[in-house]
Amino acid sequence: RHCILVGAPMDCGKKRKGCLMGPDAFRTAGLPEALRDLGHSVTDQGNVSPAPFTPKEHPKLVALEETIGWTTSLADAAETALRDGMPIFMGGDHALSLGTVLGAMRHAQKVERPLFVLWLDAHTDFHTPDSTDSGNLHGTPLGYVTGRPGFDGFPTIGTPLPHDNLAIIGLRSVDRAEREALQGTNVTYVDMRQIDETGIAQPLSEFLERVAAEDGMLHVSLDVDFLDPAVAPAVGTTVPGGATVREAHLVMEMLHDSGLMTSLDLVELNPFLDERGRTASLMVDLAASAMGRHIFDRPTRAY
Ligand code: ARG
Ligand code: MN
Ligand code: MN
Ligand code: MN
Repeated sequence: RHCILVGAPMDCGKKRKGCLMGPDAFRTAGLPEALRDLGHSVTDQGNVSPAPFTPKEHPKLVALEETIGWTTSLADAAETALRDGMPIFMGGDHALSLGTVLGAMRHAQKVERPLFVLWLDAHTDFHTPDSTDSGNLHGTPLGYVTGRPGFDGFPTIGTPLPHDNLAIIGLRSVDRAEREALQGTNVTYVDMRQIDETGIAQPLSEFLERVAAEDGMLHVSLDVDFLDPAVAPAVGTTVPGGATVREAHLVMEMLHDSGLMTSLDLVELNPFLDERGRTASLMVDLAASAMGRHIFDRPTRAY
């Protein structure tokens, strides 16, 4: 594959600073080399900047105008990169997915394929600017791309992402307003209890089978806090009881074997909170598994 690395040092999706160092931490941890070792060609496009914006005070929302600026520029970057290869967005906080998923939606519409989104996260990130209590817009990208109201000033979503095309896996911190908005929809939401009961492979393979059946494109968004904080401390929003290293690698290996993933976000890495780079290194290892690193060959699973 042709991997296109895009740095997205977005840091305004929440109050705690540090994600702006994420792209360079991924580079330092050897993401380009890991992908080349797997036989992929790699272009590092450098870092994206936000489209011009004028900051204003808002009673609740954090950095609304800057977030809109990033959404505009990252949607363009994503749409362009998807024409040429497999973009990997090195975040940056999760607000960057307001843009990357929008860009993927635009691309999918042009090539007339359905887009599916796999969201690996402790949180649902299903808020709207109205429903968020924290004011942190990194908690809103799935509200935005599914067409929930209240995103005034953001690029308009043409056709929203259908609920059937979204799976959120790893959940253990869901706000009341998000739960009320999600329950009863066709969104696939998998909490840690379900993972404990059935394993993580079952809900994932069910989703991948649906993507394959519709010849879908698949955007994967990996939030560091999907992982247990004991193995991935470099994130501002740690929640105990997360995915293990083995569960996360299994997800990534299944993604590779499916051949379905067409774009990938690596988000919420805060290198300022890391311990000797262990979280950055784990995220690079996970990205490598998703791109084909494995222990032994096994028969490819037909989805
Ligand atoms: N639901 C909480 C909020 O809105 C946490 C969101 C965390 N999101 C994330 N991308 N880490 O503030
Ligand atoms: Mn998130
Ligand atoms: Mn999260
Ligand atoms: Mn092999």
